[in-house]
Amino acid sequence: MGISYPEKGSEVPLDSNENLLLPEEYYEDIKDELYFSLRNYPSPTSTELKRCLADFHGLNHEQVVVDNGSDAVLDTICKTFVPKDSTLGYFHPSYEMYSFFASRNDRKAIEIPLDPDFTLPSKIDYLNEVEAVLVCSPNNPSGLHVKRKKIITILENVELAVIDEAYVEYSERDHISLIEEYDNLIIVRTFSKAWGLAGIRVGYALMSAEKGVEYLENMLPYNVNSVSSEVALSALEKKSQVEKSINKTIEERERLSDELDDRSFNPLPSDTNFLLCKKPAFIEASELYQELLERGIRIRTFEEPRLEDHVRITVGDRETNDHFLETLDEIL
Ligand SMILES: Cc1ncc(COP(=O)(O)O)c(C=O)c1O
Repeated sequence: MGISYPEKGSEVPLDSNENLLLPEEYYEDIKDELYFSLRNYPSPTSTELKRCLADFHGLNHEQVVVDNGSDAVLDTICKTFVPKDSTLGYFHPSYEMYSFFASRNDRKAIEIPLDPDFTLPSKIDYLNEVEAVLVCSPNNPSGLHVKRKKIITILENVELAVIDEAYVEYSERDHISLIEEYDNLIIVRTFSKAWGLAGIRVGYALMSAEKGVEYLENMLPYNVNSVSSEVALSALEKKSQVEKSINKTIEERERLSDELDDRSFNPLPSDTNFLLCKKPAFIEASELYQELLERGIRIRTFEEPRLEDHVRITVGDRETNDHFLETLDEIL
C-alpha cells in the first residue's frame, strides 16, 4: 500500500480532528512561559516531561515513554514489542497508519473487520490468529469507544495489547487503570488532539516499568526537542483551560450531531471531537467534499468501500459549526 502525505491549504480544517476550541490565550500563555536553551541538548529521554506525565496519570516515571508524536510511539512499539515471528492484529476501519507501522518494520499483520455497526467483532476467533492486538479507543473514524469487557478479553488472550487513546480526553472511558493489573498492556496518548498541540509532535505511552526500559533501547535519544518538551510541560499546567475546551467540544458535538441528523446525515454517537456520518443518498461523498472545499471547508472522505458513503467531520467552535451548517445548506 502506498502512502501519501497531502499538503493542505488555508481551508477550515474539519478533516484532521485538531482541537479548534482552545482560545488564543492558551497559546499566548504557553509562548510567554517558554524557557529553553538553543545551544544545549535537551534531556535525551525527556526526563522532566516523563515525570510530569507520570504524576499526571498517577504512575511511576519508568512507566512513561515520550516520543516524536504518537505515530513515532506506535512505530517504536511495533519494532520493540511485536517479535518478527508473531502477528499483529488491528481492526478495520480504524486509523489507517497501523498497517504502515507494521509493514515498514517488516512485521506480519492482519486486518480484523469490525462488525457492521463498527463495534469490535462479537466472535473472538481472531484472537487465535494473533499474538498482539492494536485497538483504537475511542476509534478513529467511528468515534465509538471499546467496552472494558472487550479489552479484558483481548488482554487475557494475547501477549500484547496496545490501546491507542488519541481521542480519549473527549470520552468518559479510558483504560489506564488496567495497566497495574496487566503488564501486557500499553496505552498510547498524544498532545496533538485535545491538548491542541499537533505542531509540537509529542506523543507518549504508558506501560509496565519493564517495558518502559525495553522501549528506550529502541528509541533514538533526543527524540523530543527542547521547544516541544517545554510546550508540553507548560500545557500540562493548563489542564483546566484544556478541560474547558473539551466540555465545550462535547456540547457542540451533541448540537452538531442533532443538526446533521436533521439533514439526514445519520451521525454515529461519538466519544471524540469528530462525527462519522453516512451522507444522504442524493449526493456523493466526493461531490460534497469538493463543494465544501470550493467554499473553504475541508472534511474527510474515504476511499475504502465500507466508508465510501461516509464523511468525517471535526467538531469546531459554535461559530465554525454554524458556518459549516450554513455552507452545507447552500450545497444541499
Ligand atoms: C487514532 C490516532 N492515533 C494516532 C494519531 C497520530 O497522532 P500524532 O499527531 O500524535 O502522531 C492520529 C492522528 O490523527 C490518530 O487519529
